[in-house]
Amino acid sequence: MKLSTKLLLGAMTAFMLNQNVLAKEVNVDITVQELEIEIDNKGTKQMMWTFGGTIPGPVVRVKQGDTVNFNLINLKSNKQSHSMDFHAAQVDVLDEFSEIKPGKSKNYTFKANYPGVFIYHCGASAMSEHIARGMYGVIIVDPKDGYTEDYPKPDREYVNVEGDLFEAGTKPNDITMGKGWKASLINGKVFHYDPVHDSDASLTLESKPGERVRIFFVNANINESVAFHPIAGIWDRVYDNGNPKNIKYGMQTVDVAPAHGMVFDLISPKGKDTNNALVNHRMKRALNGAITVLMNHEDYDGKKGQDGNLVLREE
Ligand code: CU
Ligand code: CU
Repeated sequence: MKLSTKLLLGAMTAFMLNQNVLAKEVNVDITVQELEIEIDNKGTKQMMWTFGGTIPGPVVRVKQGDTVNFNLINLKSNKQSHSMDFHAAQVDVLDEFSEIKPGKSKNYTFKANYPGVFIYHCGASAMSEHIARGMYGVIIVDPKDGYTEDYPKPDREYVNVEGDLFEAGTKPNDITMGKGWKASLINGKVFHYDPVHDSDASLTLESKPGERVRIFFVNANINESVAFHPIAGIWDRVYDNGNPKNIKYGMQTVDVAPAHGMVFDLISPKGKDTNNALVNHRMKRALNGAITVLMNHEDYDGKKGQDGNLVLREE
């Protein structure tokens, strides 16, 4: 064998080994809980259906090429059938995504082939009601190439999910038609991170002036797209679907379709304290809950948006 061929084979073997080492199997177990949960900063409770007891459900984070070994548990104490639809999966809607009754569990696997930020949601009938009651979450698939010039490492990361809140007891058909709509939820609460419009709000997103803040945004509204805009800022980069290949620069307002996700990078001015309000610029939505304050201050809380602390919640 020629030396060059040997070297090539050696390099290929090393590459394949490397790929095997990098691609992991990730176990994800999520339990459906139907429960009364706080839907605003005052502590008002409403009967919601959840993945794991929170809205949104737990953030699932894997790397492109990983295999997700997923287990859905529908507690015996629940009343409804539920299912799990990962938008990051390429499977069979009639098989993997089928619904299971209370007391049952369901296991399936899928390979995360595409990088990005994807919604997951319950697809059990009536799907409008299951989503509108809070059955959604986020799966982030980090690109296999990691951070690059096109997809720089952010200083801080947050997950921001907008969803609907309907009056308790609204019938599924009315939910589908938008009747009984009450407010917008951001990560499960009305004005969750907006002390300006809600004096009971105790949290804001934070960063240090000049940092690159990355927002993994998902629209969990059942009917309406989100016109996502950073008041007093410009999106430095927007990655459609969160894929590093889909870059837009210097954007003001970007429409995110229902059940779609995008990555938004924002860089605040250096050397002075500033604030942004990340809004759904559809005013009906903004003024009914869909505003998030981002404070870029020298005395920022450095733990926020770091080490997997992507969804801020009250302690
Ligand atoms: Cu469900
Ligand atoms: Cu879907």
